[in-house]
Amino acid sequence: MIDLLLGLQWGDEGKGKIVDVLTKDYDIVARFQGGPNAGHTLIFDGHKHVLHTIPSGIFHEKSMNVVGNGVVIDPVIFKKELDNLAKHHIDYKSKLLISKKAHLILPTHRLLDAASETMKGKAKIGSTLKGIGPTYMDKTGRNGFRIGDLQFDNWEEKYRNLTQKHLKMIDFYDVDIDFDLKELENEFFEALEVLRTLQFIDSEEYINNAMVSGKTILAEGAQGSLLDIDFGTYPFVTSSNTTAAGACTGLGVAPNKIGEVFGIFKAYTTRVGSGPFPTELFDEDGERMAKVGNEFGATTGRARRCGWLDLVALKYAVQINGVTQLMMMKGDVLSGFDTLKVCTTYNYKGKEIDFFPYNIEEENVSVNYTEIKGWHEDLTKMSKADELPQSLNNYISFVEDFVGVPVKIVSVGPDRKQTIKV
Ligand code: GDP
Ligand code: IMO
Ligand code: MG
Repeated sequence: MIDLLLGLQWGDEGKGKIVDVLTKDYDIVARFQGGPNAGHTLIFDGHKHVLHTIPSGIFHEKSMNVVGNGVVIDPVIFKKELDNLAKHHIDYKSKLLISKKAHLILPTHRLLDAASETMKGKAKIGSTLKGIGPTYMDKTGRNGFRIGDLQFDNWEEKYRNLTQKHLKMIDFYDVDIDFDLKELENEFFEALEVLRTLQFIDSEEYINNAMVSGKTILAEGAQGSLLDIDFGTYPFVTSSNTTAAGACTGLGVAPNKIGEVFGIFKAYTTRVGSGPFPTELFDEDGERMAKVGNEFGATTGRARRCGWLDLVALKYAVQINGVTQLMMMKGDVLSGFDTLKVCTTYNYKGKEIDFFPYNIEEENVSVNYTEIKGWHEDLTKMSKADELPQSLNNYISFVEDFVGVPVKIVSVGPDRKQTIKV
């Protein structure tokens, strides 16, 4: 069986932290979609690590880490991640496996991302500009460049042809973006040589064999359900299926092999980049969440927008993913509010609704809140369920009743140790 861990909001729920906490119970951790648009933060033993493409199980001695076929890899960023691991004396070569079917992000994919965003002007998606959209476009357009292509003699010719096409497309966009292709390519080719020293495998074969031999596997999602290409707030989404189904296609596992689906959410909501966000706050409550929660993107450093917990959206994400257990993050950030608000219905085109509709832009949706008493205790030093304040337990019960799934982990700080089983 394979368990999944998925973000239920707009990303940055704390997936990296929880995967790191759970890894001791798994033989294999696998990423199945997304790429270096992700930034997963792990904090333990006084060190902070941010991973973009490498699975968050890499710091554990025994577990293997697989970058699945659904992931898109930028060798330049991957190399930087490896350099950081080497600095911390992590022997990554023996426990990092890369799918031959994973697609490569070329330097010109990144340029295309920038050109597309520049052309969109005010309507831009707020992409991380890592080349994610253009790389997945080449994948579904059947023009992509895969890790496995590197084994063929003509790989460089393939690279040149694709790059030439991209340069023509950039011309077509007719926007001003500065770049020095030679410099980008030097960096890219150098990083490719490092990548080649790793193990490239048929990861679907590896994962399925591992399941047969009774190994435990955790699939680590990137982004969040509301950024899913099909079910998110399109077009302000990423270019992959971030939801449970993405783990099947992104690793080659059958749906009936899925065990637990861990759904992870912040006790409030954040979003980085553009797009609708019904519970967004523009007042001092929102500023307080941003400040106390240190809400800055782990990949781009951009300030994250903050707002109250949206239970309509959370219930939608639980449904689409088949979540079996919830994990609530950053409860510590909400300490000190007398009253908390959670969104329980939307007003949509003149009607009160309790589901996530086609369009949730401000002109179509406004929110209705239920107020819940807050807590004032400092949670960050707590380590046992019975220490948690009653008001926090009531908040959790409200969420559980609303979405119909139990909360099993409460996170009370960024460190690996600040994690409470409830
Ligand atoms: P991911 O992309 O889902 O892995 O999440 P990120 O790493 O991008 O963002 C989560 C941020 O919240 C990181 O800075 C974490 O160190 C931090 N964090 C995770 N859990 C908690 C928590 O329970 N409390 C606090 N205060 N910070 C947390
Ligand atoms: P993790 O895994 C939060 C957002 C971007 C932008 C949109 C599209 O750390 O939770 P893209 O670069 O994919 O073209 O950007 O998606 N986005 C994320 N937001 N966390 C992430 O990953 C994200 N990955 C992409 O900000 O709005
Ligand atoms: Mg993140």
